[in-house]
Amino acid sequence: MCGIVGYIGESEKKSFLLAGLKELEYRGYDSAGIAVMQNGDIQSFKATGKLANLVLKTQNFESKEFGIGIGHTRWATHGKPTETNAHPHWGKYSFVVHNGIIENYRELKEELQADGLVFLSQTDTEVIVHLFERFVTQGLEVREAFVQTIARLQGAYAILLITKKAPDMIFFSKNAVPLIVAQNTQGEKFLASADSPLIGYAHEVIYLEDGQYGWIQNNTLDLFERGKKIVPTYKALAQDKLSAQKEGYRYFMEKEIYEQTRVVSDTMMGRVRDNSIEFEELQSFDFSNIHAIKICACGTSYHAALVSSYLFERFAKTTVQVEIASEFRYKEPLLDPKTLFIVISQSGETADTLEALKMAKNAGLKTLAICNVDNSSIVRLADATILTRAGIEKGVASTKAFATQIITLWMLTLFIAGMKKTITQGKLEDELQALVKIPLCLHVNDFLHEKIRRLSKRYLHGHGFFFIGRDIFYPLALEGALKLKEISYLHAEGYPAGEMKHGPIALADSELFTIALMPQTILYEKTKSNVEELSARDATILAISPVEFALADDFIKTSQQTHPMSEFFEMMIITQLLALEISVRLGNDVDMPRNLAKSVTVE
Ligand code: F6R
Repeated sequence: MCGIVGYIGESEKKSFLLAGLKELEYRGYDSAGIAVMQNGDIQSFKATGKLANLVLKTQNFESKEFGIGIGHTRWATHGKPTETNAHPHWGKYSFVVHNGIIENYRELKEELQADGLVFLSQTDTEVIVHLFERFVTQGLEVREAFVQTIARLQGAYAILLITKKAPDMIFFSKNAVPLIVAQNTQGEKFLASADSPLIGYAHEVIYLEDGQYGWIQNNTLDLFERGKKIVPTYKALAQDKLSAQKEGYRYFMEKEIYEQTRVVSDTMMGRVRDNSIEFEELQSFDFSNIHAIKICACGTSYHAALVSSYLFERFAKTTVQVEIASEFRYKEPLLDPKTLFIVISQSGETADTLEALKMAKNAGLKTLAICNVDNSSIVRLADATILTRAGIEKGVASTKAFATQIITLWMLTLFIAGMKKTITQGKLEDELQALVKIPLCLHVNDFLHEKIRRLSKRYLHGHGFFFIGRDIFYPLALEGALKLKEISYLHAEGYPAGEMKHGPIALADSELFTIALMPQTILYEKTKSNVEELSARDATILAISPVEFALADDFIKTSQQTHPMSEFFEMMIITQLLALEISVRLGNDVDMPRNLAKSVTVE
């Protein structure tokens, strides 16, 4: 979600670091910072907001002799986007930048505080530098101190650390977050969390594997895995910047579909515990006296809200009303202060959602935002916020933001259910186990993608699509239809499967394409009857199900699951890929479809 860069060599360090961060700015722009060590001294600069602010702050700084530099552009996960929380974080003589989340940072922080260490920031990252320096103080050689430090960390991280105790070394470690070591023919070495900052500087790269770590001293790289030294194998670096940002995918939307398994893990990190859900951000939020929930959102975020309404009523036994924000604003709504008002927004800037939030606040309701962008207008206004940690979403058609919204809302449902004791401990633990398996369901396998790509050529015409489903698969049908219309420009509607017979079935003929979401774990027989009714009227059926369906014209088999949410996420991926592949075949601009904008700040 953040971006990191590092350099060791004789060239101007500031210019590589700033140019590299510019390439990574799309990954986060709450704040940025660099630290440069030369002649045994370290200078550090940080600035909040866009990178331009850091460029301004460093304009009189030069770093031309041999030295080492690290840099970071931040997407806040722990702590507000302030200068203090910006990276690099420092101890007495060492500096660190980190991308990812240190899951056990709270216990490490308490341990270090008990030793008298004072923390400056609210971040999880700062524990790394203090841990390292404590090991050095205990007498460990710097390499060993670094190895011991990373052995204490749990979670996802790409880390770069520099220390005055070793002025010709840069230490690195990677787990579950990308990190690349690169070099050029002049013997300079670079590090970055993606390819794009390296293009034009380096020729060869090593894409580090999880669990690998090491250090670069002058221009010598020492690389280790599980305590064993390994021989570094470089490969050539492709030199196309835009495609580097897309990390090998054809479109940002495609990359974001594939990223879902990772961002959903990020969203759960530190929140899903062995036998409970914890939201650090809700510690001082008072849920007593809340009798109902109202959720307001637009578009995809509205669909996420609809999914959650089933979950809230099922687990938390709380009445939930979901409203489209642009409708809510003008309907003179009755607002009861005993209602919790939730807004959901990827961007945090959607004008209708923001206005709805203002109305709820003015009426004295407690407000909670579920949002992907810290410090956005919605986050600043709401009483509390849960960040969805999807990272920047570049494709206009939302995919990974939706997945993280659903995960967040599912966790929130269980959190409230636990608090209200409307769920047994056994059932709660079953749900937690189902939650942690979701990243696996989101893994896109090549065979599935290829099958959808091949099928897509059959769905480029016709007079429309109906996506149908029941229960939580009804909002998924709405979302599937929205994805398709946004990027294919074909007419598509989402409908509750059981509602087709009340009118829309009149449209059925062989040119009406029905995308039938037929999960096994929820109302399979009921949905099947509805699909049979359409099939009897000669509608063309693409069935998505773990159960073979004889009447389907096309069939995508999903895996046998025991939990509806696992089926939900598997089917979500299929609808996203189907929309993508149809759009590609139609020659449309997948990432920037006509007439749309990523952030809708007008009414
Ligand atoms: C669809 C899409 C839009 C947004 C909607 C709300 O792919 O992206 O429907 O979901 O404009 O935007 P946010 O979530 O930023 O409030």
